[in-house]
Amino acid sequence: MDGTLTKNDLSHVVEADRAHVWHHLIQHKPFETNDPRIIVEGKGMRVWDQKGKEHLDAVSGGVWTVNVGYGRESIAKAVYDQLIKLNYFAGSAGSIPGALFSEKLISKMPGMTRVYYTNSGSEANEKAFKMIRQIAHKRYGGTKHKILYRDRDYHGTTIGCLSAGGQDERNAQYGPFTPGFVRVPHCLEYRAGDQGAPTENYGEWAADQIEQVILREGPDTVGGLCLEPVTAGGGVITPPQGYWDRVQEICRKYDILLHIDEVVCGVGRTGTWFGYQHYGVQPDMVTMAKGVASGYAAIACLVTTEDVFSMFKDNADDPMNYFRDISTFGGCTAGPAAALENMRIIEDEGLLENTTEIGHYMLDQLHALADKHAVIGNVRGKGLFLGAELVEDRETRKPMAEKRVQKVVADCMQQGIIIGATNRSLPGYNNTLCFSPALIATKDDIDQIIASVDEALGREFA
Ligand SMILES: Cc1ncc(COP(=O)(O)O)c(C=O)c1O
Repeated sequence: MDGTLTKNDLSHVVEADRAHVWHHLIQHKPFETNDPRIIVEGKGMRVWDQKGKEHLDAVSGGVWTVNVGYGRESIAKAVYDQLIKLNYFAGSAGSIPGALFSEKLISKMPGMTRVYYTNSGSEANEKAFKMIRQIAHKRYGGTKHKILYRDRDYHGTTIGCLSAGGQDERNAQYGPFTPGFVRVPHCLEYRAGDQGAPTENYGEWAADQIEQVILREGPDTVGGLCLEPVTAGGGVITPPQGYWDRVQEICRKYDILLHIDEVVCGVGRTGTWFGYQHYGVQPDMVTMAKGVASGYAAIACLVTTEDVFSMFKDNADDPMNYFRDISTFGGCTAGPAAALENMRIIEDEGLLENTTEIGHYMLDQLHALADKHAVIGNVRGKGLFLGAELVEDRETRKPMAEKRVQKVVADCMQQGIIIGATNRSLPGYNNTLCFSPALIATKDDIDQIIASVDEALGREFA
C-alpha cells in the first residue's frame, strides 16, 4: 500500500470521514463505534483499505464500474494531457476527445449515430425520458407520452428515474413520483411460477405481458419502453429465450421507442460491447455510464439513432424545435479522454474475449458450487456479470432471508473478497449474490472468489 501516508495521516482521514462524510447507501450509526472503511489504493483486481488489508474486488468498485481494473496509468495520463490542454467547455460546443470518442463508440454500435454526453447513468436516462416526452409533444400532441419500465429494473436515483424504478424497497419513502410511468412484469424465468406463468415459451409470455399493458393503457398513449438488457441490481436477470425478438416486434407494432439502459452492461461487461448485442435487437436509444471510462472520470452517454436525432432538427424555423437540454458536466473533457483510452485498452488487451472465456469459467464454477450447496437455487448471468440466487428450499424456491444472504457477503469480506448481493431493493427477493469482477480477471482470481463463497456458504448453512 502507498507508503506516503503515515499511520497518523490515515487516522486523521478516518476521523475526518467519520465527522463529515455522508456515505452512500449506508446507515451511519455503526460508525459511532466502528471505523468507516476507507479504500486507499487499487491495482488491477485488488484494493487496499486504511488498515493495509488487501481485498480481491469481485464487484469492480462495488457497483460494477471499474471494468479495466485499478491503477491504469495510461488512462490517468490521457486525462492529465487533456486537462492541461482544455478541461472544460459547455457542450453546446464540441471538444477533441468528445468528437473522437463519439466516433469510436458509434463504430461499435451499428444502427446508432449520435452521442449526447452527460455525467451519470441517472442523468442519461432522464435525457432519454425527456426526448421521448418531447417527441410525444412534437408528433402526437403530447398524447404518446407514457414510458413503460419493468418490475425489478433500476434506472437511477433521481425522482424521475425512481418513477421508472421497478424496485419497491428502493422507492419506499421517496414518493410521490411523477405520473406517466407504467410498470410491466419482470422476465425472470426462475420466478415464472410466482407470476403464474406457463412453463413453456416463457420468454414470449413475458414479452406478451408488455403488450397487454400497452393495450390496457392505449397504444396511442405509450411513447417509450425502457429496459435493462440484463437486469443488474434487480438480481442479474438474463432474458429468457425469445424475449427480445417479441419485445422488438411489439415496439415496432405500436410505434414505441425502445430505450435500452446499458448503464451496467455497456462497454464490455457481458463479453460484447453492449448487452443488447447478444440478442439481435435494434434499440432507438441506449444509455451507458459505469464502464464507459471504468470510473477514471465521470461520463455517461445517451446514444440515439439518426431517426431520433433528425426529429429534433426537422423544422429549423421553429425556435423550440431542438433538444432544449444541457448537462453542465457533460462538457468536461476528462470523461471522453478517459473513455477513449478505456476502449483502446479493452480492444488491445482482448478484454471482450477474456470476459467471454473467464465468464464461462466462472459460470461453470458457480454451477459446481450449486452442486455442493443446496441453498443455491439458480445460477445465471452473461460474461463477467453473474448471480447466484439463494433459497431456503430448492423445491419450493422460498427465497433465502436477506439477513442470511448478507452474512455470506460479510464472511467473504472478512476473507478479503468483496462480493455483492441484492439488498433492500426487492421486497422478499433480496437473495441473489452478485459477481462482476473486472474484465481482466484470470482463472486464478475466479478460483479465489469461488473458494471464499464456498467457505462462507459452508459456515452459514452447515
Ligand atoms: C441499470 C442502471 N441504470 C442506471 C443507474 C444509475 O446510474 P448512476 O448511479 O450513475 O446515476 C444504475 C446504477 O446503479 C443502474 O444499475
